[in-house]
Amino acid sequence: MTEPWWKATTVYQIYPRSFADADGDGIGDLAGITRRLDHLAELGVGVLWLSPIYPSPQDDAGYDISDYRDIDPTFGTLADFDRLLAALHERGIKLVMDLVVNHTSDEHPWFAESRSSRDSPKRDWYWWRSPRPGMEAGAPGAEPTNWRSAFSGPAWELDEATGEYYLHIFSRKQPDLNWENPEVRQAVYATMRWWLDRGVDGFRMDVINFISKAPALPDGHGDGGAFVSGSEHYLCGPRIHEFLAEMRREVFADRDELLTVGEMPGVTVEEARLFTDPARAELDMVFQFEHVQLDQGGSKWELRPLRLFDLKASLGRWQAGLAETGWNSLYWGNHDQPRAVSRFGDDREHRVRAAKMLATVLHMHRGTPYVYQGEELGMTNYPFAGIEDFRDIESLNHYAEAVATGDPPEHVLASLRKMGRDNARTPMQWDGSEHAGFTTGTPWLAVNPNHVEINAAAARADPDSVFHHYRRLIALRRDEPVVAHGDFTMLLSSDERVYAFTRRLGDSELLVLGNFSGDAVAAGVPDAERWAGAELIVGEANGDPLALRPWEGRVLRARPAPGARAGSR
Ligand code: GLC
Repeated sequence: MTEPWWKATTVYQIYPRSFADADGDGIGDLAGITRRLDHLAELGVGVLWLSPIYPSPQDDAGYDISDYRDIDPTFGTLADFDRLLAALHERGIKLVMDLVVNHTSDEHPWFAESRSSRDSPKRDWYWWRSPRPGMEAGAPGAEPTNWRSAFSGPAWELDEATGEYYLHIFSRKQPDLNWENPEVRQAVYATMRWWLDRGVDGFRMDVINFISKAPALPDGHGDGGAFVSGSEHYLCGPRIHEFLAEMRREVFADRDELLTVGEMPGVTVEEARLFTDPARAELDMVFQFEHVQLDQGGSKWELRPLRLFDLKASLGRWQAGLAETGWNSLYWGNHDQPRAVSRFGDDREHRVRAAKMLATVLHMHRGTPYVYQGEELGMTNYPFAGIEDFRDIESLNHYAEAVATGDPPEHVLASLRKMGRDNARTPMQWDGSEHAGFTTGTPWLAVNPNHVEINAAAARADPDSVFHHYRRLIALRRDEPVVAHGDFTMLLSSDERVYAFTRRLGDSELLVLGNFSGDAVAAGVPDAERWAGAELIVGEANGDPLALRPWEGRVLRARPAPGARAGSR
């Protein structure tokens, strides 16, 4: 059986607002990306995932789309898009688009028509409901359910003109589409085919496990009166597998070499196995969220220290759960997460070593790795001072709500600084010049002052940089079948400092080590004698291969046992 191509590739994510600005308006654009493609080619990635570039009022930075078949003028034109796509394909890089179809913008013509009257033929394209029985529209608590929006406040907005509420799991400018309606599904599939016909190579599907809601929209479980998540009624809902299988048939049949990845907050290993079982023909892989919630309490703003033990237990469970059937995607960061080296590593004294170690550990797992722009430079969180430094709707809404209910502003800011999405969205650091070579204008979000030291030009010139380390890891996945296809065994599951595992395919065996601490440690792996004589294939030689410096990572290759056949797999 030939293995799917995406098992041996690495994906790079670009957040277009913040990658490269060609026209000097302070916001990144498609022409800017096209000029910088050599950066991706040099890294060796096989796929680019582009966050949304469609026309959008930008309430949620492009995740609120008002036209699925055009480009926002801020980012360019369809001609710019075609040029970018051709330039990628010339370099052997595929393009995966962001597909945001759990909701549209409230400025999408579909929604404008839907809200125009209760009798609109598109009324049923969205979730419209009357006020709670016995209550006046607009009265506190009259919302049809007690669901909370992911961006604070209730998940319902009253439309005064027609006297009904519409559902918005995200902002009030992101009304949820009603996937129960077959016309909605067909309209989405037609759009997807339109992009594939234009030449794109697949989709990253935004919160795709939210599209099937329990049609009765019951109240969420939780304390009476207050707004609660309600997600038990829409997360991997009753028809989710049916919808995705239908999408596969309607959109992807007779097309190959594509990639589909579903973003799925709250998905379990068991569900993920169903979504990614090739025999069921739904998705190639999903983004799960477990490992990026281990340092959070009940909400993402409740900070708690990460325990390495939990991280290994979680990622190890995903490795085991999708070992025989299904496939993992691997990531530390994206446009919604804080910077990986600040969150999981050390962004001060040992920044370079920690960024490399995190990359080594992630890229040596079984699955398809995703690199978020700037991660390959070891970019860090931003030193936000006050609330005026933030732009993201999620952070601004949370701050307003928390402060209004009595949380001390300094306390709220402390969690925004750690978890806020703007950390990931500060402009890409190309060089040490003013605005880091991102724009000649005024950047829409401030450039991190550390760009003077941390930037692509400096990284490219330094053979020991984080950037060149990523190049080696990406090449290893492409060239070494054990990395793409080998099995995975977690070691030292209760060690509080060392992350350790082996990968094996036939006679080929690798040991991967990562020191998640600021202390020098000796990795107490089983079979230590054998590994002490192993070949170092990633990392710096430093005497004993099992002795790790603070935040150091390594990959060792076992030497063939005496008498083993040379070169066999
Ligand atoms: C996804 C996106 C995020 C967006 C949300 C609503 O989680 O990654 O950026 O805010 O969906 O579309």
